[in-house]
Amino acid sequence: MEKEKKQGRREFMINGLMGGGLLVSIGLFISHGLSFIFPGKDEKKQRKLLVGKVDELKEGEAKEVTYGENDLFLVRTADGFKVFSAICTHLGCKIKWQDYRNQFYCACHKGFFSANGDVISGPPPRALDQFKVEVDKNLVYMWIDESNKGLA
Ligand code: FES
Repeated sequence: MEKEKKQGRREFMINGLMGGGLLVSIGLFISHGLSFIFPGKDEKKQRKLLVGKVDELKEGEAKEVTYGENDLFLVRTADGFKVFSAICTHLGCKIKWQDYRNQFYCACHKGFFSANGDVISGPPPRALDQFKVEVDKNLVYMWIDESNKGLA
């Protein structure tokens, strides 16, 4: 009698554990299956980085900003603040800002970019890489995508 009682409890425990394990497995299978069929938004690790103050640049002025090993330019244009990579899209030389012309200049092969980053002349095949900017009161931020090796 006592032996049968013990055996009954053991079977009950084993069946309970197996049933629980089976339920967890089914739940995980359904969860992963749904996320495969309906993928959510790609969660990018983004954060904003302070790059300047609104009152430090007048329209037509720019300043260099360094983030890690990345050289950037913060420019105040008629359309607002913009942040560009300081790397020429031709062969990767570092560009310079020309206040008197309101444009960027690449000395390597005489490439010119407008204050909006568009190619004006020279060999660069495309506009400068631009980053999302946010102005909050007197502060100017740029957004960086850390999942993409640094910059968004
Ligand atoms: S690297 Fe800038 S124009 Fe060639």
